[in-house]
Amino acid sequence: MSLAVVILAAGKGSRMKSALPKVLHEIGGRTLLAHTIAAAQRLSPDQLVIVTGHAGERVASEAKLHSEAAVIVHQDDQLGTAHAVDMARTALADHSGYTIVLYGDSPFIQADTMKAMQAECDAGASLCVLGFEAENPTGYGRLVMGENGLDAIVEEKEANDEIRKITLCNSGVMCAKTTLMFDLIAKVDNDNAKGEYYLTDVPYFAKKAGGRCAVVTCPEAETLGIDSRAGLAKGEALFQAKARSAAMASGVTLRDPETAYFSFDTKLGQDVVVEPYVQFLTGVHVDDAVHIKAHSVLEGCHVSTGAIVGPYARLRPGAVIGPKARIGNFVEIKNADLAAGAKINHLTYVGDATIGADANIGAGTITCNYDGVFKHRTSIGARAFIGSNSSLVAPLNIGDDAVVGSGSVITENVGDGDMAIGRSRQVTKKSLGKRFMDALRAKKKEK
Ligand code: UD1
Ligand code: MG
Repeated sequence: MSLAVVILAAGKGSRMKSALPKVLHEIGGRTLLAHTIAAAQRLSPDQLVIVTGHAGERVASEAKLHSEAAVIVHQDDQLGTAHAVDMARTALADHSGYTIVLYGDSPFIQADTMKAMQAECDAGASLCVLGFEAENPTGYGRLVMGENGLDAIVEEKEANDEIRKITLCNSGVMCAKTTLMFDLIAKVDNDNAKGEYYLTDVPYFAKKAGGRCAVVTCPEAETLGIDSRAGLAKGEALFQAKARSAAMASGVTLRDPETAYFSFDTKLGQDVVVEPYVQFLTGVHVDDAVHIKAHSVLEGCHVSTGAIVGPYARLRPGAVIGPKARIGNFVEIKNADLAAGAKINHLTYVGDATIGADANIGAGTITCNYDGVFKHRTSIGARAFIGSNSSLVAPLNIGDDAVVGSGSVITENVGDGDMAIGRSRQVTKKSLGKRFMDALRAKKKEK
C-alpha cells in the first residue's frame, strides 16, 4: 500500500533557548530535520509532507535541501499536534494508502519500526501507535492498554495518579489509513489542560468508532525527542556511540573509541587506524589502511590507501591525499590535490595547490594563495623538493624534479629540473662572532 509521511516541525523549541529553530540544531553534522527526513526516505514514501511554523522559511529551505519532492505546509499558529497534522489534509486529499506521523525532533527512528507499525494496520488495526517503556515517564503521554489493545493515550497534564504510574509512553509516532487519520482528526477538540488539539485523542475516537488500536514498542533511545541542550548532548552521545560501533564492526581500529568523533556521512575503509582525539567533520572519505594519528581534524576530504596523517593535522574541504602520502604535524591542507607518495611533514600550509608524486615539501612551507581579494593556484611537479621555510607566491608553477632553496620567497615559475633560490646571499665575517660577544660580555662586567 502507498505511504505518506508527515513530519511535524512547526514548534519553536523554547527550551533550547536558541535563535535557531529546534529542528535545525545538529547531531553528527546534520540537522535533526535532515535525520528525520532520511529516516522517512528509507521507507520510500510516495508523499512527504513537512509542517513548518516557527522560522518557517529556514525550516522549509532545509527540508527542500534534503527532499526536493517534499510538500511544505505552514501552520500559522501552533495549536497542537492534531492541528499540525491537519495542515497536511489538502496535500493528502487524494492519498489512498497509510500516513505515518513523525516528529521533526526525533532523529533516531528506524525504518523497521515504522514497517512493523504498517504491518499492524495491514493486520486489521485501525491505527498503530509507537510506544516505549520510559525510565522516567514524567511529561509523556501514557498508553492506557485494554483487553483489545490500546484504549487511549492520556497526556501527563490530564492524567490522574493511577495513570501517571504507567510507564508505557507515547513516542508520538502514529500510523493509520490516510482517510481515517483525517476523519478522526476532524473530531478532536481543544477542551483540555493546554487548550491544544492533541493528536493523542485520535485513538480514543478510533475505538469509539468500533476500531482497534495497536501498539508497537521500541527502545526509549530510538524515540528520543530533543527538547533542550542537554537532550541534544544526549542525542549526540547516542549517535557517536552507534557510529563508533559501526566503524569497529567494519574493520576500523579506534585506539580510544570514546574520543573519536564521527559525522553522519563519514566513510572509513578497512584497517584504518584512528588514534585518540580525531574528529571527522562532514564529507570525509578514507580508503583502506590509512593511519590517522592523534588530534587530527578532517573535513570534506579524501585520503587514499596507505597514507599517514597527523598527529595534529588539519585536512580541510577539497584536500585529496594520494596513496601512501604523508601529512605530518601542524600541517593544514585545503583544496589541494596530492599525488602518491607526496610528503608534507611539518608546520606547513598548502591551499589551492597540486602537488606531484613523491614531491617533498619542507618544514614551514607556505603556499601564499590569497592576495587579499582573489585566490590563486600553486602547482608543484613530481619529485620536486621545496626547501624549508619557503613562501610560494601564487599563481605559480614549479616543475618536475625542481628544487627550491630553503628560506626562499618564490614569485616566478620554476622549470622542470631547475633550482630556484629567492633570498639574499649569505655574508660571513671572519671571527666577528667571537669578537662581538666578547665585547658585549666586557660591557656587562663594567656595569
Ligand atoms: C507529545 C505527545 C505526547 C508524547 C510526546 C513524545 C501530544 C499532544 N503529545 O507531547 O503524548 O509522549 O510528544 O515526545 O501529541 N508541533 C507542531 N505544531 C503544533 C504542536 C507541536 O508542529 O501545533 C510539533 C513540535 O514541533 C514537535 C512535535 O510536534 O516536533 C511534538 O510537540 P511537543 O510540543 O513537543 O509535544 P509534547 O508535549 O512533547
Ligand atoms: Mg516534545
